[in-house]
Amino acid sequence: MGLVSGVCFAEMGNKVICVDTVREKIDKLNNRIMPIYEQDLEEMCNCNREQGRIEFTTDLRYGIKNSDIIFIAVGTPSLPDGHADLSQVEVVAKEIAHHMNGYKIVVNKSTVPVGTQKMVARIILENQDKPFEFDVVSNPEFLREGTAVHDTMNPDRIIIGTESEKAARIMTTLHDPLGAPIMVTDPESAEMIKYAANAFLATKITFMNEIANICEKLGADVGEVARGVGLDHRISDKFLNAGIGFGGGCFPKDTKALVKLAEQVDYEFKLVKSAIQVNNLQKLRPVEKLRKAVPVIKGKTVAVLGLAFKPNTDDIREASAITVINEIQKMGGRIKAYDPAAMAVARKVLKDVDYTDNVYDAVKNVDAVVMVTEWEEFRQMNLARVKELMNGNIFIDGRNVFDYDSMTRLGFEYYCIGKKDAGFYRESALEEIASAKEDLFKLSKKKCNESYEHIVQL
Ligand code: UGA
Repeated sequence: MGLVSGVCFAEMGNKVICVDTVREKIDKLNNRIMPIYEQDLEEMCNCNREQGRIEFTTDLRYGIKNSDIIFIAVGTPSLPDGHADLSQVEVVAKEIAHHMNGYKIVVNKSTVPVGTQKMVARIILENQDKPFEFDVVSNPEFLREGTAVHDTMNPDRIIIGTESEKAARIMTTLHDPLGAPIMVTDPESAEMIKYAANAFLATKITFMNEIANICEKLGADVGEVARGVGLDHRISDKFLNAGIGFGGGCFPKDTKALVKLAEQVDYEFKLVKSAIQVNNLQKLRPVEKLRKAVPVIKGKTVAVLGLAFKPNTDDIREASAITVINEIQKMGGRIKAYDPAAMAVARKVLKDVDYTDNVYDAVKNVDAVVMVTEWEEFRQMNLARVKELMNGNIFIDGRNVFDYDSMTRLGFEYYCIGKKDAGFYRESALEEIASAKEDLFKLSKKKCNESYEHIVQL
């Protein structure tokens, strides 16, 4: 988020200094290597570097002294109890206090609990070497990984949380070129807007995932349901895609932090708590389907397609792939895996996995495929070839990319989320068999023969 924001501010014509304490990251950037995978970032970064608008350093003192506006974009990861860990924000606020050399606007861009703007202001005040004037602004970021540059350059809104007119004016001028609605509000509300937005979206996805689980049993199609409800402008068609749970560095962390924030004021946020629990279970859905399709997983090989928590990123934090792989390994299954971008990161976290160079090597000789991330490369793969290369024919599509009829025609035993799939038809057949069996015992000899024929047909 820091790097993307820096590059985008440079693109808007500002002079930007990006500071990080991790030398390796800065060295990479100075050698034109992006430390993360993000669409359009490399090109925009290099272009602005050539124009002399962006530089990278580990020298925080230099960054502070030579800036008018300082964005804090450090990590605020979850502590074991779910609270946001603000230690990095605190360290940086102290450094800013020591090195400031004139009026500075200090902007909290990291996702931080309500009250952090005041905390940062207090830390700066208490640690200043000289009493320079400053303002602390809350300016939450709403970009998504994978489309971060596009989102930053085309935001839905800019939120500026400050009580200082001067800071509001400068921040408004800075963001004016983006042409987005700018809302100036108090810092506490700005901080809450970020958590409320992320928790709302996470709950919206979770709601559709639960609708999907019910659809699946009733023979309804969650895609059609989403299309139908999405036509209601009050609901909108965005973030209604059912699947195998949300992941990433934001929704899981921010939902937990919001629950904790509410607890601090003696409020139990039951809805968001449930969303977190349901999401953890949703990540297990493909494994449940696999267990029904392959009762004994021990000794079987499963290809996992997609490791990143979503397409177009190499981020695997809280990715459904981690849950899926761990569960299958626990049951004694072997894993082959392929992801277009996240393999290097995954290798550090997921052990005993046979990582392959491409999707076709991944599916070769496997008993089942679980597709976890809906990368374009997987949408475009040659499914007939995939089927031919596999030993088995089980295909679990965790993101509803393909459809039952065409996958069945290709010879797959196809499972997906919230729609009729092989599991639904098997369950219906089993129910029919059970009721035909009952008839067999109850009915006359003639009827009995008919029922027997029916069972054989089924
Ligand atoms: C999210 C928010 O969308 C951003 O607005 C916010 O700035 C960011 O968190 C943050 O706080 O930094 P991000 O986590 O990058 O962005 O990705 P999303 O596109 O929101 O996807 C999050 C998860 O939800 C993914 O696992 C994705 O697969 C899942 N998802 C998303 C669904 O399962 N269904 C959907 O319809 C949409």
